[in-house]
Amino acid sequence: MLMIQKRLTYFILTSFSFILGCTLTLFFLHTTTLKPIASPIDVSKIKLLVLILSAVKNQIRRDAIRETWAQAYGDVKILFVLSKDQYLNAEKLIHSDILEVNIPDEYRLLSHKLLESFNSVRNIDFDYLLKCDDDTFVDVTKVINELETAPKNKFYWGYFDGNAHIKRAGKWKETEWILCDKYLPYALGGGYVLSKDLIIYMVNNKDYLSFFISEDVSVGVWLAPLNITRKHDRRFDTEFRSRGCCNDYLVTHKRSPQVMKLYWSHIIETGKMCNEEYKDISSYEYNWTVMPSKCCVKNALLCP
Ligand SMILES: *[C@@H]1O[C@H](CO)[C@@H](O)[C@H](O)[C@H]1NC(C)=O
Ligand SMILES: *[C@@H]1O[C@H](CO)[C@@H](O)[C@H](O)[C@H]1NC(C)=O
Repeated sequence: MLMIQKRLTYFILTSFSFILGCTLTLFFLHTTTLKPIASPIDVSKIKLLVLILSAVKNQIRRDAIRETWAQAYGDVKILFVLSKDQYLNAEKLIHSDILEVNIPDEYRLLSHKLLESFNSVRNIDFDYLLKCDDDTFVDVTKVINELETAPKNKFYWGYFDGNAHIKRAGKWKETEWILCDKYLPYALGGGYVLSKDLIIYMVNNKDYLSFFISEDVSVGVWLAPLNITRKHDRRFDTEFRSRGCCNDYLVTHKRSPQVMKLYWSHIIETGKMCNEEYKDISSYEYNWTVMPSKCCVKNALLCP
């Protein structure tokens, strides 16, 4: 009886020590892997690099993206572009998806922030870059599929406007615009894709570029003289307000964290983003054969 008790105690003690050892090891490994890698941009070959321009205060939006459409994909890397700020230290301990740039968090400096982020990623091996905002929802799988057949170089893809009024008042007022009566054709900033060579082109010429208040307008100007493929695509719902919900959308802008979570749950359950498709605003097919002022006639029949 005593013998059995002794054996049992021995058995329990060894098992306990073994489990304790394992737990400690796992805990140690876990805490070390939790630490961010030396640099968030230290990754190998990437098909699509997604840069999400975000403001330091918008962690709730970033978390909504992390929990939804930014979840692991093979050759996609998603980075939040943020101004250097101590407030980010805690977030950086948990997430290795933050690209800090040395430009203050002011909307007036967005174009500078964008180009600085291009400069920071120039040495990463990627094919295409998708710029979006922290209120943009992206169907990454669909975008990747489309890119399989896209031009490898000289490629600028989004929802273009060639007839946009110059902002003369308010937050987005442009004071230094002298190029034309309208903005030059540009892909709207809620989301657009650029091939890597165009990123390198802009970075290499950064000392010669004009920086306008709106970053999307700036990119349109920076690329305006180039002989490249500009692909207008109505599946980019990237205007200042969303046109509705359409399952064909690749990118949809002005989406709250709640809506992102809703869309994501629909995708998980049914493979489709919208429970019900609807259209608040009509879209247009860009007409490249007429003058820009006539480029963009809305057509109520078009869907999306
Ligand atoms: C743009 O490039 C294409 C293909 O190289 C060429 O055929 C076309 O003439 C060029 N357009 C201009 C305006 O230079
Ligand atoms: C562009 O405009 C021209 C001239 O009005 C018209 O003939 C052509 O069908 C239009 N193309 C598209 C794609 O709308």
